[in-house]
Amino acid sequence: MAEHQVFKIASIPADGVGKEVVAAGRKVLDAIAEQSNGKFSFEWTEFPWGSEYYAEHGVMMDPNGLEELKNFDAILFGAVGWENVPDHVSLWGLRLNITQNFDQWANIRPVKFLPGVVSPLRKADDTELDWVVVRENSEGEYAGLGGRNLSGRGPGNEVAVQSSLFTEKGCERIIRFAFDLARTRTVQKVSSVTKSNAQQYGMVLWDEVFARVAGDYPDVQTESVLVDAMSAKFVLHPEELSVVVASNLNADILSDLGSAMAGSLGLAASANLNPERRYPSMFEPVHGSAPDIAGKGISNPIGTIASAALMLEHFGLHVEARRVEAAIEATTAAGHLTRDIGGTADTNEITEAIIEALAKSLTSA
Ligand SMILES: NC(=O)c1ccc[n+]([C@@H]2O[C@H](COP(=O)([O-])OP(=O)(O)OC[C@H]3O[C@@H](n4cnc5c(N)ncnc54)[C@H](O)[C@@H]3O)[C@@H](O)[C@H]2O)c1
Repeated sequence: MAEHQVFKIASIPADGVGKEVVAAGRKVLDAIAEQSNGKFSFEWTEFPWGSEYYAEHGVMMDPNGLEELKNFDAILFGAVGWENVPDHVSLWGLRLNITQNFDQWANIRPVKFLPGVVSPLRKADDTELDWVVVRENSEGEYAGLGGRNLSGRGPGNEVAVQSSLFTEKGCERIIRFAFDLARTRTVQKVSSVTKSNAQQYGMVLWDEVFARVAGDYPDVQTESVLVDAMSAKFVLHPEELSVVVASNLNADILSDLGSAMAGSLGLAASANLNPERRYPSMFEPVHGSAPDIAGKGISNPIGTIASAALMLEHFGLHVEARRVEAAIEATTAAGHLTRDIGGTADTNEITEAIIEALAKSLTSA
C-alpha cells in the first residue's frame, strides 16, 4: 500500500470573515482527506495572528513567526485588516511579511465563471470564459521602497516617495512561469500587461524581457496590452484571455475586476507560490476581511475553498483538486448561493453542501 502522507498546514484566519472562510476551507480539506482511503491527511496548527493579536502585543505576528512557519508544508490564510490598525501596518505586518520573506513570487488568481452564478456580463451567458491572472508578487509597485520626509517644515510640506522595483530576474521568472502555465491550458496564449508608455523604466524593462522570453515559446500566442486597455478588454473581450501576466499592482486590480465579473469577490481564489519550494506557499481568497459582513456567518466561503483546491494541486493531488472544483460547481449549479451572489444560504450551509457534493461524487465514481 502507498505510504500515508501527512501535510502540515499552518492556518492563519486573521481578521473579520477570514475566520469564517478559513474554518470552511479546513472542513473541506479534512473531508477530502477522510475520503482518500488513508492516502493523506492534514495536521493543522492555527496561529492567532492578526489585528486582535496586534491589540494585545503591538505586533501583527510573533516576531519569531516566520521561523515557525518555515516548517510547514503550506499556509491557509484568511484576510487581514481591521479598524484598530492602519491598513498598511496590518498588511505589511502579516500578509506581505510572509509573501516577501518566503519569496512567494508567483501569485496565481484564476477567474472562474460558475454555473448558477449570474455574471453582470451578458456575454458570460453564452461564452466559455476562463482565464488566470498571474501576478508578480515580490517586487514592482509593492516593493515597499520609499519614505516620507520634510514634515519638520510645517503643515502642508511633507513629501512621500514610493518607488517601484523591476528587476530583470524578477520579470523573467514570472513571465516564464506564465508561459509554462499557458502550455498546460487549452488556449495557449499569454497576455502581458504594463503601462510602459507612461512608466518608461521598469515597465519597458518588463516589455523587453517579455519579448525575449516569448522567443523561447514559439508555440504560445502572445500580446502586450496597456493596463487601461486591458481593463476594457476584460469587460468587452474576455473570451480572448487565457493567461494574463502583470506586475504586482496591475494584477491585483485586474484580478478583482475579473472576480467581480464572475459574480463576486467572494468567489476568487489565489495561491502565493514559492515555485522553488524553499519555503511554504500560501493559499488564500482574494478578498479582504469584509468588516461590513464579518461575524454574521454569511460570507461566501467559495474563494477559500477554491484556494484549498489550489493547495491540493500544489501537493500533486490533481484528482482531488478537480473533485473540490467539481463539488463547488455542483453546489452553485444546484442553486445553493450566498447573498453576495443572489442567494440566501449562509457560510455553513454552502460549506456543508460542498462537502455533500464531494461525498456524492465519491459514491457515483
Ligand atoms: N489579502 C488580504 O488580506 C486583503 C485583501 C484586500 C483587502 N484587505 C483588507 O480588508 C479590509 C476590508 O477591505 P475592503 O472592504 O476594501 O475589501 P473586502 O474584500 O474586504 O470587501 C469588499 C466587498 O466585498 C465583499 N466581500 C468580500 N469578501 C466576501 C465574501 N467572502 N463573501 C461575501 N462578500 C464578500 C465585502 O462584504 C465588501 O462589500 C481592509 O482592512 C483591507 O486592507 C485585506
